[in-house]
Amino acid sequence: MAGLIPQDFINDLIARADVVEVIGKRIQLKKAGREFKACCPFHDEKTPSFTVSPGKGFYHCFGCGAHGTAIGFLMEYEHMSFVEAIESLAGLMGVDVPRDESDRPARRYDELFSLLSSIEQHWQNGLRDHSEAVDYLKKRGIDGATAKRFGIGYAPDSWSDVLDKFGKTPEAAERLLATGLVIRKDNGKHYDRFRDRIMFPIRDARGRTIGFGGRALGDGEPKYLNSPETVLFHKGRELYGLYEARQALRQIDRLAVVEGYMDVVGLARHGIDFSVATLGTATTPDHLNSLFRLTDSVIFSFDGDRAGRAAAWRALENALPQVREGRQIRFVFLPEGHDPDSFVNALGSDAFLKALDNGVALSDFLIGELAGQVDMTTVDGKARLAELAKPLVRKIPQGVYRELLVDSLADTVGLPATRLEKMLGQPADTGNQYSGQTRRSARRRGTLKAGRPSVVRRAITLLLNHPMAGDKLDIEKLADVSRPGVDLLRDLIETVQKEPNITTAGLLERWRHDDKGRHLGKLAANEVPHEEDFDPAAELEACLDQLALAGRRERIDFLIEKQRLSSLSDDEKSELRQLH
Ligand code: UTP
Ligand code: MN
Repeated sequence: MAGLIPQDFINDLIARADVVEVIGKRIQLKKAGREFKACCPFHDEKTPSFTVSPGKGFYHCFGCGAHGTAIGFLMEYEHMSFVEAIESLAGLMGVDVPRDESDRPARRYDELFSLLSSIEQHWQNGLRDHSEAVDYLKKRGIDGATAKRFGIGYAPDSWSDVLDKFGKTPEAAERLLATGLVIRKDNGKHYDRFRDRIMFPIRDARGRTIGFGGRALGDGEPKYLNSPETVLFHKGRELYGLYEARQALRQIDRLAVVEGYMDVVGLARHGIDFSVATLGTATTPDHLNSLFRLTDSVIFSFDGDRAGRAAAWRALENALPQVREGRQIRFVFLPEGHDPDSFVNALGSDAFLKALDNGVALSDFLIGELAGQVDMTTVDGKARLAELAKPLVRKIPQGVYRELLVDSLADTVGLPATRLEKMLGQPADTGNQYSGQTRRSARRRGTLKAGRPSVVRRAITLLLNHPMAGDKLDIEKLADVSRPGVDLLRDLIETVQKEPNITTAGLLERWRHDDKGRHLGKLAANEVPHEEDFDPAAELEACLDQLALAGRRERIDFLIEKQRLSSLSDDEKSELRQLH
């Protein structure tokens, strides 16, 4: 927000961060040889399988597979954003985070944040003086403590309450306008946007108020009025209640996505602290990213009516690119006429928790909805179902989840999975060739020959574990090699040659935001089994030779095949002779 942090600074910080210090501050570590051990903070266990390696600068749990760098740990354990983690590390080392930009826009943002915070306070105070607002909240079952936790306030029935208090000078009015809390008329005069409304502050991940939702006290129209999009507030990105949930919960086992402010607040009032609401928009991919950064289990709750099912379907479509093994997405449909707030008030929290537990899995919802659209008793109907499923299945990343879903679909239409897979078409390549599952499915499709990616994989693993061993590698050997992962291997080699002091953690951080790097962490945790006099540089060299040789063979095959089909140019002929 306040200017970009220079990459050099981040690199330097990662190189110097002491992963043992960062983690050791938060959980008890015990020394074990060159490493440190503890019971894993990310899953329940009695014997320690959580390992911190100061040399590599990262941690790994052999029990649940959690792994990452000091930054990754802060993000997972403390639920920090990347920038917050950088700031925290810098604080620990006693250095300031430099920003690329001049500080002007930064100061402007700070001014807007503090203005919003003052107005939030002003509206909270407003509750004291307006008993009708307090009565309304009471009527809706909200107690003082909950109102306070969510910073709920009241904006009085006036066209210029905020304007008079916070917008006296033209500059101040201009700032108010930028927060979206006042509206400018054609004649250049301003007036308050929110009048006679219960005010819900919307907070960002760090708890700073960035906008408001306001509910009419009675039957006023519109029922809810939200802040407009501003420099600070982007509806498609924010989730109401996420900050409050993170504050209330040490560990977020699941997050429930509901529709409204009152649902989040009503649930919290009943001790259900893990709900968040989208702000009058459908669930966006940005929302899903924030959700899955914090938890593996997301439950969408919708009204049981037609509008609710339609909204659920939109959420499903947006969620498909995010599904994968290890993640749970479920859908709950409440009884007709209920939303989570009315449901929990009428039936209590246990009933709501039970409803969540009984939610339908995404795959069942998907198949069920599609099956409902066709006549499953006919061949045509089943073919049509496959047709309808096609664009949806294609959105799912390759992997076990997708395979299982195709298996279920195949079951439903009564076709062998392989036939159905063919009908659904080749899956899009997600560049995810390192996971075992993908290799399995890829091999089944016959696009990769057994064992092929393993050399690349081994080379990457070696390089991650011993970055210094890559300094003399001849990258030219990979020139003719075109197999999955080689691009990444090439990039890794270039990086360790350009930055000879880079650590395992540094490499992982460099690829954090890159889809190609999604599996690097797992590879870094896999020390290559080796003998006493193991020489990682020689091993790497051997991997590259092996790849170069395979690349040569491929080129020979290609030239021979070309010769068979048509003819070779003179250059190609001599190339082939040379290769032989
Ligand atoms: P609902 O109409 O379902 O309201 O809108 P609700 O949450 O049940 O509210 P109460 O219980 O009547 O107070 C759900 C969400 O849709 C957006 C708001 O974000 C609201 O929380 N909405 C609704 C608007 O933005 N404007 C509206 O006029 C209505
Ligand atoms: Mn409601």
